[in-house]
Amino acid sequence: MIQIAVMGYGVVGSGVVEVITSHDESIASRAKEKINIKYILDIRDFPGSPFADKFTKNFEDIIGDDEVKVVVEVMGGINPAYDFVKRCLESGKSVVTSNKELVAKKGAELLNIAKGNNVNFLFEASVGGGIPIIRPMSQCLAANDVIEIAGILNGTTNFILTKMIDEQMPFDDALKMAQELGYAERNPKADVEGDDACRKICILASLAYGKHIYPEYVNTKGITDISLDDVLYAEAWGGVVKLIGQVKKLDNGKVDITVEPMFIERGSQIANVNDVFNGILVRGDSTGDVVFYGKGAGKLPTASAVVADVIDCVKHLSARKYLYWSDGTEADVEPYCETVFSVYVRASADDTEEAIEKVKGCFADVKLLTRNGAPQNEFAFTTGNMKSSDIENAVKAIGENGINVLSKIRISDL
Ligand code: HSE
Repeated sequence: MIQIAVMGYGVVGSGVVEVITSHDESIASRAKEKINIKYILDIRDFPGSPFADKFTKNFEDIIGDDEVKVVVEVMGGINPAYDFVKRCLESGKSVVTSNKELVAKKGAELLNIAKGNNVNFLFEASVGGGIPIIRPMSQCLAANDVIEIAGILNGTTNFILTKMIDEQMPFDDALKMAQELGYAERNPKADVEGDDACRKICILASLAYGKHIYPEYVNTKGITDISLDDVLYAEAWGGVVKLIGQVKKLDNGKVDITVEPMFIERGSQIANVNDVFNGILVRGDSTGDVVFYGKGAGKLPTASAVVADVIDCVKHLSARKYLYWSDGTEADVEPYCETVFSVYVRASADDTEEAIEKVKGCFADVKLLTRNGAPQNEFAFTTGNMKSSDIENAVKAIGENGINVLSKIRISDL
């Protein structure tokens, strides 16, 4: 019998306890050991819970108990999760986490501590909820050089955008629904401002390229500025708006990495990933494109990935799984201003015909877009490929010519 502890009894933590207790026989046969939850750490009270005898508010109960071999961290956030996880690894306990913020900010350090103590630090649930992606990338695709990873990495924003696109539902109503369904982060700013997707693409990039890519070096934009007008222009263009995380390895050895809303052509596989689903495309030099699809958030999908890692830890109590990357720096990331792409722009001006002539002088390969119901002084266009800094200069130049830029969204090459 292997004793484990679960730190955090929120949406995911309660799901982990539910999955382990309701699947105890099948899990025992797969892990070749019975798994018993000895402690559940949470500062809150849960009166009437069937697990009342397991609750503790004191982390020292867990760290001081040599019987506990595997600790599940599903508290979220950096403090106190970072300190707790570090101490568990240092004291020879394997750790499983769903905490993307922790892995994205402290992954290199924690993997190194795990290596030094010959224990495992696993985090399948940190990216893509219930979708297997970390293990396939580190094992099944290990023979490939990864050329690119791109996709929809946040269920909450994909749910909101789907509601806006399909039902013209206002942003705030859709966010409220996502919160009620348990998809959103405790502070949903992390979802809608792109930080959650950024953490996830950083984890995938670090795994693929072997160096820690820190979130603060990544251009990150969320969906708070996306309006129904943009959704309608995307449709007129032949696609949809999605929040995309994307990373490519450049010939100069750096990574081109970004998180931002993008226009995606309707024919792309990613365009048809809707609701809370995530879709992640991994382009390998040998495999070509491999696409991972499934529920990217929610109690049981995420818990299922956590419990699979627990089983893996139990099966490898005395052998480390190979999962590692070294530390990285800002020099590993291509400055965003140097990157090249095309954009959609929506703008307004008193004299739109005159404004369009000015736009053509500032942007490459301008193509106009139209939509039903546009106000008379509004116009929209797409551009050809331009360097990001040139796009910014062009936006500034038309602004100085009396043109009001209402929105600017990257056009994806996916
Ligand atoms: N808030 C996250 C999402 C949860 O919506 O994708 C899963 O990581």
